[in-house]
Amino acid sequence: MIPAEDLQCLKAIALGGGCRGPVFVSTQSIGEMLAISQQTASRRLKGLETQGFITRTMAADGQHVTLTRHGEEELRKEFQDYCRIFSDHTKGYTLSGTVVSGIGEGKYYMSLPAYKEQFNTHLGFVPYPGTLNIRLSPASVPVRKKIDALNWVRIKGFSTDGRTFGDARCLPCRIGDISCGIVVPGRTHYPEDIIEVIAPIALRRRLGVGDTDNVSVEVGQ
Ligand SMILES: Cc1cc2nc3c(=O)[nH]c(=O)nc-3n(C[C@H](O)[C@H](O)[C@H](O)COP(=O)(O)O)c2cc1C
Repeated sequence: MIPAEDLQCLKAIALGGGCRGPVFVSTQSIGEMLAISQQTASRRLKGLETQGFITRTMAADGQHVTLTRHGEEELRKEFQDYCRIFSDHTKGYTLSGTVVSGIGEGKYYMSLPAYKEQFNTHLGFVPYPGTLNIRLSPASVPVRKKIDALNWVRIKGFSTDGRTFGDARCLPCRIGDISCGIVVPGRTHYPEDIIEVIAPIALRRRLGVGDTDNVSVEVGQ
């Protein structure tokens, strides 16, 4: 495997256009880019040439450098690693935790037609009146923060009988093969490690779970 510092140097040359043709570099410019001394930059370029990653022609105040096919391949390998790292995100997220009881307020809010209709429109099911509360494991708390960046649906607040009901947001998810939604009410009093999940059916009954039982929620693909 090519050393990281050589790879950095190849990347700097490629960013200057060195994959397309000769680019003029001085040991000073490379040194500044990589935060290394001119002497080290000079040694590094020489090393890259010896290993067949670049070709060089010397000029009066610097050199013209081109990446060889071999050099470009090394950069491509790195690129593919990054693709794998970042495309993993599209595979989805898993939030795990244990079932906890609330005080039953979710049931009240989820029974209101103005909320129910919006969930039906956005999630494709009429939600069961109630929310399943899950206390996330410590490992799932950062995942919960990450999914904040996904495309949540806005559930609009409304007024009825002289009372106002707040906005909420919702994200489609799954528990096993059951289509569900994570609901975050704008006025919730729950801390960040508790999520509320809604579904077309009574989740506790369907999953056969009660307080302290483990549940995993899948978001994304
Ligand atoms: C769709 C939806 C809308 C909500 N709107 C409000 C609201 O307007 N005002 C409020 O104080 N709480 C609102 N809540 C939050 C509940 O007060 C509470 O945080 C939560 O649902 C807890 O339910 P639980 O006691 O069943 O665990 C809403 C909850 C849901 C699911």
